[in-house]
Amino acid sequence: MKRIPIIAANWKMQLTEAESKHLATFLKENYQPSADLEVLLFPSFLHIASVRDIIAGSGIYLGGQNLSFAEKGAYTGEVAAFQLADIGCTHVLVGHSERRHYFHEDYETVNQKVKAAISSHLKVVLCIGESADERKAGVTEMVIVDQLESAFSGIDHDKLASMVIAYEPIWAIGTGKPPKPEDAAHVHQIVRKTIRRLYAPEIADNIRILYGGSIDAKNIKAFMAQEEVDGVLVGGASLDAKKFLQCLKNWKD
Ligand code: 13P
Repeated sequence: MKRIPIIAANWKMQLTEAESKHLATFLKENYQPSADLEVLLFPSFLHIASVRDIIAGSGIYLGGQNLSFAEKGAYTGEVAAFQLADIGCTHVLVGHSERRHYFHEDYETVNQKVKAAISSHLKVVLCIGESADERKAGVTEMVIVDQLESAFSGIDHDKLASMVIAYEPIWAIGTGKPPKPEDAAHVHQIVRKTIRRLYAPEIADNIRILYGGSIDAKNIKAFMAQEEVDGVLVGGASLDAKKFLQCLKNWKD
């Protein structure tokens, strides 16, 4: 089966509502949907409904940047999986390094969030990646394998098919210094090998693995050209409507 590539935009905590609406409107008006690419936006929770209304019928997918580990109830300030699904999200980011770092999300929490997302039929985009120190210490593979094994603990084979993995080396996020595309692809191979071991060859062959960290309109093509790279998760360059549209146009010849 051919893996349809994904270009996803993580708007993080960067935009006003007017800015989110402007970006969504610009994409809706200027991006021609195509069967060989999936486009996915992760706005702030606050702007999901506005963005949803603008991109309706455009073929662009919508996701939450985070979700609660809990299913429902008295969890002040949290947003549950069912609420994201209810408002029109099809996807959710889980385990972004900013959440692991600033909000102390440990392996168990990430695993609980994966389970919560699955229970509301959201497609998980699981973020993994090593820090600069871990890379220097030569333990990237160990870190990646630990992150995958813990996140997928207790998750059945049939649930893996809808998952997406985003390899985001922490040292490459927001630094303008991505790895060489072939070095990212090497880590993607480790991810796929791990999925093969934990699950089955056909699951590993079909799962999409994105790269994230300092992707822009200039380097996107070199990453997407790697056999092992099934798409990208874009931060900074997705905040500028023209730059992100360039990414959507430049990813292949
Ligand atoms: P940048 O593209 O700004 O490096 O951010 C990447 C990222 O964290 C996407 O989730």
